[in-house]
Amino acid sequence: MTPDPAVRSIGTDFVLRLPDEASATASQDEEWCEVEVDGKTRRLRFHDYSEIYSIPGLYERLIYERLGCQSPRVIAGLIRQELASREADPADVRVLDLGAGNGIVAEELAELEIEHFVGVDIIPEAAQAAERDRPGLYAEYVVADMLDPASGAAERLQRQRLNALTCVAALGFGDIPPDVFCEALRQVETPALVAYTIKDAFLGEKDESGFSDLVDRLERDGSLVTLQKERYQHRLSWAGEPLHYVAVLAEKRADV
Ligand SMILES: C[S@@+](CC[C@H](N)C(=O)[O-])C[C@H]1O[C@@H](n2cnc3c(N)ncnc32)[C@H](O)[C@@H]1O
Repeated sequence: MTPDPAVRSIGTDFVLRLPDEASATASQDEEWCEVEVDGKTRRLRFHDYSEIYSIPGLYERLIYERLGCQSPRVIAGLIRQELASREADPADVRVLDLGAGNGIVAEELAELEIEHFVGVDIIPEAAQAAERDRPGLYAEYVVADMLDPASGAAERLQRQRLNALTCVAALGFGDIPPDVFCEALRQVETPALVAYTIKDAFLGEKDESGFSDLVDRLERDGSLVTLQKERYQHRLSWAGEPLHYVAVLAEKRADV
């Protein structure tokens, strides 16, 4: 797979080692790597985001260069087509980027000339890494659990008058649960473009994560209408196997 040219290499002060493919047998949420910094080696799970973001460039090297992640590029492609077909001005799009991490999705969307981004993530290291590596990209970055009314996230987000929601590679696997996604939908205006990626199994009939039920319910009551859907290779697993996700572009058409 060709690395995404929009994702820049950052920092090189570490050595990254992945187990050889034959011994990489754990499931997707247990994958790990070894990282050597200043002569000390640590084993990190791919989901140890706080530690991964704290090492400049590690997330880019691991997920994008080594494992060929395509998700931000695919989501940007769907949004590009939709804006073109509506003859919409990208400068009018105001994005809530949920599970924003260190800002790769916003950076990809900035290539489309979208200018206004507000990030939300549950860990402060994500916000710190976004500002360290992509300074000024987010107009505001909210570190909060959106289900905690005392966090003040809802008030901060509503002030931003956001009319698009992105959530890329962050749903399921102990990351963002359906309730948080639903809460983010409430914080964007109506109508709003909604673009997300999710592992294909979480949208199937046998899904037990709750996403499939949530999307069905929102579609049935007309609050969320799917405009485009594309199954694609999200990235390689550490064993070199393709991991398939679905990218969905939808529109919020009524209050949730
Ligand atoms: C795999 S990363 C994806 C980051 C970014 N969207 C990207 O594509 O590069 C998943 C992100 O979701 C965040 N996350 C997990 N649970 C969350 C929650 N409940 N609310 C907000 N963000 C959450 C993690 O901290 C992490 O930054």
